[in-house]
Amino acid sequence: MGRLENKVIIVTGAATGLGLADARALIAEGARVIMTDIDVDKGTEEAKDLDATFFSQDVSKESSWLELMTFVQEKFGRLDGLVNNAGIAPIAHIEEVTAESWRQVLGIHLDGTLWGCQGAIKLMKEGGGGSIVNMSSTAALIGIGSYLAYSAAKGGIRSMTKSIAIHCRQKKLNIRCNSVHPGSINTAMVQHALKELVGKDLLAEEDPEKTRIEMGIGEPDDVAHMIVYLMSDESKHVNGAEMVVDNGDTVI
Ligand SMILES: NC(=O)c1ccc[n+]([C@@H]2O[C@H](COP(=O)([O-])OP(=O)(O)OC[C@H]3O[C@@H](n4cnc5c(N)ncnc54)[C@H](O)[C@@H]3O)[C@@H](O)[C@H]2O)c1
Repeated sequence: MGRLENKVIIVTGAATGLGLADARALIAEGARVIMTDIDVDKGTEEAKDLDATFFSQDVSKESSWLELMTFVQEKFGRLDGLVNNAGIAPIAHIEEVTAESWRQVLGIHLDGTLWGCQGAIKLMKEGGGGSIVNMSSTAALIGIGSYLAYSAAKGGIRSMTKSIAIHCRQKKLNIRCNSVHPGSINTAMVQHALKELVGKDLLAEEDPEKTRIEMGIGEPDDVAHMIVYLMSDESKHVNGAEMVVDNGDTVI
């Protein structure tokens, strides 16, 4: 028996990177996973490989969440877990950020997380409980100069998570809500950031594994193991917590 046998779990932004690693790890523990993404081609292909279900979604749209929850209710009849993982990280500091970019980042991270949590709680209540994970970042704990909107959005996710957690506890809903705060993890998002900020893709050079370790960059599975724990009943006493996965970056 896996640690998540028969649990029905949604992972957003699951076509690549952390979301894909999460989906793979959850399925390996017996979960039935609905992978959502705005990238339909890649999402469909990866879901097929994993024998998972793909749902095309733009998380920033409330309507996409209503459609997704109806789909999950009709196909699976319940919802046990939600990983609000989809995200973007455009580089822009306070002096250069535009209204368009600000709204896009907040729309995907904050609106997406908000409507996801609201829809999930409705379904989870009917099923007797569940677990929600909101993907934040160490940017929520320290702030990053070159990522103004991203830092603000991730900080918002951190406190939104605590508000939801305490509401669910007070209402005795048996729904837990936690945030996860990775440091740098080797995905397309970080590879792109390195190219933009350092001028070259260090992780594609001669010995990428050596570079990754020297730079203190983690692997997607480092986060996926945390997601499996938070989705499982092993974490039943963990609620409103901020789980940092950064190999000590924020304590140095
Ligand atoms: N990689 C890191 O170092 C790191 C660190 C801290 C936090 N995070 C967070 O983890 C999450 C995943 O990051 P990643 O590194 O895997 O990024 P990634 O860019 O590799 O993957 C992000 C995925 O989200 C999808 N997506 C983007 N906009 C979407 C939308 N509107 N609706 C649905 N899907 C959408 C993309 O198509 C892509 O598949 C993000 O929330 C990110 O902010 C990542």
